[in-house]
Amino acid sequence: MSRVRVHNFSISLDGFGTGDGQSLEAPFGHAGQRLHAWMFATRFWDDAGTAGVDNAFAERHEPGIGAEIMGAGKFGPPGWQDDPEWRGWWGPNPPFHTPVYVLTHRPRPPLEMDGGTTFHFVDAEPVDALAVAREAADGQDIRIGGGATMLREFLAAGLVDHLHVVQVPIVLGRGVRLWDGLAALEEQYDVEAVSSPSGVTHLTFTR
Ligand SMILES: NC(=O)c1ccc[n+]([C@@H]2O[C@H](COP(=O)([O-])OP(=O)(O)OC[C@H]3O[C@@H](n4cnc5c(N)ncnc54)[C@H](OP(=O)(O)O)[C@@H]3O)[C@@H](O)[C@H]2O)c1
Repeated sequence: MSRVRVHNFSISLDGFGTGDGQSLEAPFGHAGQRLHAWMFATRFWDDAGTAGVDNAFAERHEPGIGAEIMGAGKFGPPGWQDDPEWRGWWGPNPPFHTPVYVLTHRPRPPLEMDGGTTFHFVDAEPVDALAVAREAADGQDIRIGGGATMLREFLAAGLVDHLHVVQVPIVLGRGVRLWDGLAALEEQYDVEAVSSPSGVTHLTFTR
């Protein structure tokens, strides 16, 4: 059976997966780029980047994935549903190269992009969206892409097999929290922590 995986999901010390005030100019709100600075410094992101612990975790994002599911808040800034021209943040050739299922209460027809990415817009419960994505993934794994709101739903429903969370040593104070309502989640998983010299901690929750 294919697995449901989360990779490189970055949170602040106080558990926020994005900042407050998301907009076209500030996709992560007041967090800016601080949640993912560790990743931008790796070879996974940039050929001139580092090849140590952070890179080893970051590059696990890609292999074996046959489909992604993401939330409306990752696909675009608040209100993108009112813009018929919005095609995501990533340009004509998005970095997914698989079917991507965007959860939204305001679905629209699929968007076929260059490079094998097709965005499908679905209004469905997590378990039902996962069934559709699993079929499309054709035996490969399904990545849950975030943000925090939809990831929390998938975790609450017990649908995630492998969760890689990166705890970044910043305090955001406000934004969208990951862990709310998920008390004792860790009891369902084997948990490991690896500290990186960059200052982040890689936490893996494996069922
Ligand atoms: N920290 C990280 O590593 C990371 C990773 C990815 C993204 N992000 C950031 O996280 C932010 C987005 O996160 P977020 O928590 O605000 O939003 P999100 O989880 O991306 O999306 C939530 C929205 O998705 C739709 N949705 C969720 N579940 C649904 C369901 N079952 N059926 C239909 N629609 C459903 C709803 O949108 P509608 O009701 O409007 O349709 C809901 O408001 C962005 O800033 C993004 O850049 C961070």
